This record gives sequence, structure tokens and C-alpha cells, in this order.
Amino acid sequence: MTQKKKMLLYGATGYTGKIIAARARELNIDFEIAGRDKSKIRSLSNELNVGYHVFEVHDKSSWQIALADKQVLINAAGPYASTARQAMEACLKAAVHYLDISAELESYLLAESFDDRAKAAGIQLISGAGFFVSYDAIVAHLSKLVIEPEYLSVGFRHYGGFSKGSILSSKNIADLGILVRKNGVIIKNPDPRSRIFSFGDEDVACIPTSLGGIILSYKTTGIPNIEEYFSLKLPAMDLPELTSENLPDGPTKEERAAGRNGITAEIIGRDGEVVKAYLDTPSGYELTPLSVIAVANRILSDDFKIGYQSPGSAYGEYILNDIPDLKLIDLA
Ligand SMILES: NC(=O)c1ccc[n+]([C@@H]2O[C@H](COP(=O)([O-])OP(=O)(O)OC[C@H]3O[C@@H](n4cnc5c(N)ncnc54)[C@H](OP(=O)(O)O)[C@@H]3O)[C@@H](O)[C@H]2O)c1
Repeated sequence: MTQKKKMLLYGATGYTGKIIAARARELNIDFEIAGRDKSKIRSLSNELNVGYHVFEVHDKSSWQIALADKQVLINAAGPYASTARQAMEACLKAAVHYLDISAELESYLLAESFDDRAKAAGIQLISGAGFFVSYDAIVAHLSKLVIEPEYLSVGFRHYGGFSKGSILSSKNIADLGILVRKNGVIIKNPDPRSRIFSFGDEDVACIPTSLGGIILSYKTTGIPNIEEYFSLKLPAMDLPELTSENLPDGPTKEERAAGRNGITAEIIGRDGEVVKAYLDTPSGYELTPLSVIAVANRILSDDFKIGYQSPGSAYGEYILNDIPDLKLIDLA
């Protein structure tokens, strides 16, 4: 792969895309922005003083022009059911590394299905390089502490409300039902029950929810039994009538700064040994931009593994060093 050292951010004018762009600017990353709405893209490009491209996600020739001098794409345009395939195909064709911040399990499976093609193109393909970067890092950390990890359970406490894009995407998660991995296979949870997780000094009853570890952390560790829990109901479940017009943009900067997210993971080994850790992180829409830019920065420094990867299979736990304001605490 040629050393191009430049990043493209598609979907840059969305709620999360703008925070990602600000973080890229803060780290002096050389990047351009792209999206489908000309006036929004031009105005952000003026604000950031970066180059821009305006095109619809299905416009193959514009993708090739925009990606021609890039080393990595961050696709921040979601819901990913409408954008992941087109953006991944464009990256495979242009031999440009692909990252997105999807929370939709279908896009993880899509990335997995492109493994051979990603290897042939010499690119790293990660769907789920948002909050999953630190989630998967804590799992990678714990999995090394037991001899044969057999059971993984993870509780996730979210703070800071939801953006429009997250609410729309959460329907694509909720529609799949509650999934778990059992003996290596993804199945519907036969007996979904809430479970209490301790997040620092707060105990929270969490709801069984398939967050994506059943695919991504399985890729990272091969642990055959995985269950995940969320501190909240997926937002789409409370809002049956979803249109982008009746949804809020997302939390303000002050709201984002007012609380923390938490991830508690537990692994049980074949011999019954239990290990647990808790990761205290900035709130959701602070953490995701910090995380995806940390991964993009690694790629721009030529640290990547070709093929379909999870954040943990590519970077293990050491990516935590690249994300500010995290605190990892081993519990048992
Ligand atoms: N897992 C995580 O860590 C995490 C965290 C934050 C967000 N996310 C995900 O990131 C995605 C974006 O969230 P957000 O908060 O930025 O939402 P948002 O404010 O609604 O922004 C969505 C962006 O995507 C663009 N877009 C949507 N559909 C498109 C399509 N079919 N073609 C081209 N562009 C399209 C929108 O363009 P227009 O402005 O032209 O409509 C907008 O720029 C969501 O899927 C969300 O679930 C994940």
C-alpha cells in the first residue's frame, strides 16, 4: 500500500461526525470531509479549513475520486444499513482502510463476509470502531488473565442521551431480538433476564441486549459464550414512530461533560476462575470520536492488520493508551 497519510471522513456533518472532525483537527490529522448535503458540507469545510467532496453514498466514481489520495476512511454516516456496504465496497476498490462507528450487528457481519477481499486489497476493515474500541480492549485485557476463557459477560452503562442517528440505528439492533453466543454459535437468548452490574460505586440492573460483542469480542478472543447487558432500553423501543424529523440532534457539549460511561466485564475460565474489570470512560458521544480517531491515527502510522478485524483483534488492550481520560480497574 502506498503511504498516503490522509484521512477521509464521510458523514462529517452529522452530530457525531462533527465531533470526530473536531478531534481530528485537534490532533492535526490531515483530512478531508465528505457527505451528501452540499450546503452543510461546504459550511463545515469553511469552518475547519479542510477540503471537501459532496456525493451520495451510492456514487461509485465520486468515491474513487475522494479516496484516491487517502489512507483511511471513517464512515460516520449512519444508520449503517444504508451506507456500510457502499462505503466498504469503495474502500475495497480503492485499497483504502475502512473504519466506521456502527453499533449495528449486520454491518459487523458484512465486514466479516469481506475478509478475503480485504486481505486481497491489503486493507484493514473494522466496522464498530466507536465505543467498541474500549469495550473490546477491556475484554482483550481480561481474556489474557485466565487460561481457557469460556464465558464472557459485559455490562454497559451509557450516559448522555442519544443522537438522532443512534436512535434510528438502534431500531436495526432491536429488530434482531436479544442475541447471545452459545457454544460458538449466535442464537436468540432463550431466557433473557436482567442482571446487576457494578459500575464503580453504582450498582445498576441491566437489560439483556446484543451490543455487538457476540461478533466483535468473539473475533478478538474466540470466547464461545458471550452475553451482553445495557443500562437502558434501546431508544427505538420507546419511540415506535421513527423519522429523522421528530428526533433530537443529540446532547449538548455541557450535557456530554456532565457524566461518565462505564463498562464492566467478567470472564470465567474453564477451570472456574473468574476475572473482572471496570472501565470508567467519558460519556458516549465524547468516547466514540476519541476512539475512532485513535484507531485512524494508528493506521496513519502504519499500524494495522489486513482483513476483517475487530478493534481488539487489531489493537488488543494497548489502544487504551491512545484514548484520553479512561480508568481501568481490575476487580477480581
Ligand atoms: N457505537 C458508537 O460508538 C456510536 C456512537 C455515536 C454514533 N454512532 C452511530 O453513528 C451513526 C451516526 O450517528 P450521528 O449521531 O452522527 O447521527 P446524525 O446526526 O443523524 O448524522 C448522520 C449522518 O449520516 C448521514 N447519512 C445518513 N444516512 C445517509 C445515507 N443514506 N447516505 C449518505 N449519508 C447519510 C447524514 O447526512 P444528512 O445530514 O445529509 O442526512 C448525517 O451526516 C449512527 O448510526 C449511530 O448509531 C455509533
